[in-house]
Amino acid sequence: MTVKQLQNEILNLKRKVDITILAHYYQAIEIQEIADFLGDSLILSRIAKEKANTEYIIFAGVDFMAETASIINQDKHVLLPNYDSCCPMAAYLTPEKVREFKKNYPELPAVVYVNSTAAVKAECDVCCTSSNAVKIVKAMKEVHNVDAVLFGPDANLADYAEQISKIKTIKMPENGHCYVHSQITVEDIKAVRKEHPISKLLVHPECVRDVRNLADFVGSTAQMYKYAKDSPSEVQNFIIGTEEGLLERMAQDFPNKNFYVAKEKLICHNMKKHNLELIKYLLENPEDKNHEVKVPIDIAKRALIPIEKMLSYS
Ligand code: 13P
Ligand code: SF4
Repeated sequence: MTVKQLQNEILNLKRKVDITILAHYYQAIEIQEIADFLGDSLILSRIAKEKANTEYIIFAGVDFMAETASIINQDKHVLLPNYDSCCPMAAYLTPEKVREFKKNYPELPAVVYVNSTAAVKAECDVCCTSSNAVKIVKAMKEVHNVDAVLFGPDANLADYAEQISKIKTIKMPENGHCYVHSQITVEDIKAVRKEHPISKLLVHPECVRDVRNLADFVGSTAQMYKYAKDSPSEVQNFIIGTEEGLLERMAQDFPNKNFYVAKEKLICHNMKKHNLELIKYLLENPEDKNHEVKVPIDIAKRALIPIEKMLSYS
């Protein structure tokens, strides 16, 4: 069966079942094409809260995104096409570690990147995503009347929030990072800029500071998409410092612009574990409990507080 035929079967099945398909920009392009909604982590959390009014939600993203959707929608069934699709960054922070940091810094609010487990979120004051980290850190300073915050698990996003807001972030832990974004080096950027000298460099805040400092724009996946979309027509060339799925989306949506990867093979293998066959299977078998994301109710109730707080601040 061709990809097109499989996509058509999925679209036909979708009309018969009460299911919303959410997909992140890092999904394979053929999955992005059949999704009801596409977005970055913040947009997808908002959609899960406000627009996914179906009994079932298929989440083509990694586990923390599906968990967040499930915490927001405790009366719905959130399904992961491949249950092993996880974000390794989340493993850098455990609830025990958060409690230890809070004991050492009892006066400081704990900001947790949404790329974390539900149990870790449950210990923290507020969540953030890459699109609102600076805003959330600033809000915490005002509300708690402090000059610093605890921030985990991504030390690069924490550093970015600190660099822009000028508010100190104590990293929980020092070395949390994304294996995809932290691969990009200054040498990679110099090499790609040599090849495409008249280009705008767009990078994700999960990149290291030296790389971010070379960029024309730092933002979440949806913010990079918007930057390219809103750029005047004479700005034609963009170097993209994030997972390749976003580049594929932009290349398709903006055919008059040119997009180049900041480095070859910027692939999040965890995001790419889903495929059309698995999505079709879930449309035919939504009640298959092996794919359902379930957060224990006591953790879900506590984790909902920092998630709701983030949504109210952004
Ligand atoms: P965005 O929220 O920017 O889409 O990022 C999610 C992510 O996992 C980045 O690696
Ligand atoms: Fe996690 Fe990095 Fe993949 Fe994003 S790109 S889901 S942070 S491993």
